[in-house]
Amino acid sequence: MIDSVLPLQESVWWLQKRDHLLDLAKNQLNAFIYDSKTIERSIASLKNMESIDKIFYAMKANFNPDLLRILYDFNINFECVSPGEVKFLIKTFPNIGINRILFTPNFSPKDEYIWAMNLGLKVTIDNLYPLKEWPEIFKNKNIIVRIDTGHGEGHHKHVKTAGKESKFGIHLPQVKELMVLVKSMDINIVGIHAHNGSEIYEVNNWITIAEQLALIGKKFNTTKFLDIGGGFPTSNHSDNRSVSMKDLDDGLLRIKQKYPNYKFWIEPGRYLVAESGILLTHITQMKNKGDKKFIGVGTGMNTLIRPALYDAHHEIINLTRYYDNTVTELVEIVGPICESGDSFGMHRFKKGSREDDVILIANVGAYGSSMSSHYNLRELPIEIIL
Ligand code: LLP
Repeated sequence: MIDSVLPLQESVWWLQKRDHLLDLAKNQLNAFIYDSKTIERSIASLKNMESIDKIFYAMKANFNPDLLRILYDFNINFECVSPGEVKFLIKTFPNIGINRILFTPNFSPKDEYIWAMNLGLKVTIDNLYPLKEWPEIFKNKNIIVRIDTGHGEGHHKHVKTAGKESKFGIHLPQVKELMVLVKSMDINIVGIHAHNGSEIYEVNNWITIAEQLALIGKKFNTTKFLDIGGGFPTSNHSDNRSVSMKDLDDGLLRIKQKYPNYKFWIEPGRYLVAESGILLTHITQMKNKGDKKFIGVGTGMNTLIRPALYDAHHEIINLTRYYDNTVTELVEIVGPICESGDSFGMHRFKKGSREDDVILIANVGAYGSSMSSHYNLRELPIEIIL
């Protein structure tokens, strides 16, 4: 995981707000900062897609209440995976209509389904077990089913959520059994869902899902929408990869023309919030071991576990010295946590970097603070929305 030192676009929001960020960093060792305008831009680009009828934000990506408020005010709906997420949403927005919430649990206990159906949530079932073992909960009801498309995708094996090795979704050969079950229980399959994984760079992923789900939908005459999941990437500065939302829209529109009876839903997490978030920290110490150089920063895998867990790459910038004209050297950026895995990887850094320089870790708006922990009992960073 080596930073390729491509020149950054000067238009990136945190360079435009550099002075303000350096100011904010004076008062705290570590802080998550989110830029509301960047979130609004992501919302607008999804709302621009003609093929998409409803957007559900996967709130597991980031549940900061002020950030949720931006999505709420722009009429984005919410995808929740636990009663905790649903309750948090209702507590934050007491007037939220229950129809704005999609509940997509996985291997949940029976009581959660009873609770969700009684509350009137849209519930996604991703296994035949609940239907076979707890028929009383679902008889005569409307439900959504999650299908395993058979091909998992994504930036790391831990985030591929389809295929035989994945615990998610109803296995395709079981669709016949599903048809018999829903008929005998008078269940309406109102929606068919699939989510292949996270951070996928192939437009065809969603086009194939839409086609696969449309064909399955034809087997039930109650299906009104196809939920083609999330997994849309943000543009990756380090290797210039991105997905053209225009190509995706065109491709989906082609499928929609073929199957005009279905509405299309999506449930993105990362796409809506990743680029809006940065983690500001400071250099704490430096260490040489022969040729190897470590630069320590004020926070580590406790606040951003993605590099340790998935070998994920995040740009790391010395914000204090961003415009200094010094040569760079390859260093390993590490945090203060007592684990060897507490590393943000190898990065090119300005040679004159010093204790207390402000360090910026980019693209952490999704799965940064929401996956942080109290490990080592280090304080969590404050979170600020600009
Ligand atoms: N829908 C379902 C059913 C999901 O399981 C997920 C993510 C999403 C939507 C939203 O996916 P997104 O658009 O954010 O890729 N912690 C990992 C990502 C795990 C995502 C889990 N499921 C990471 O930091 O990359």
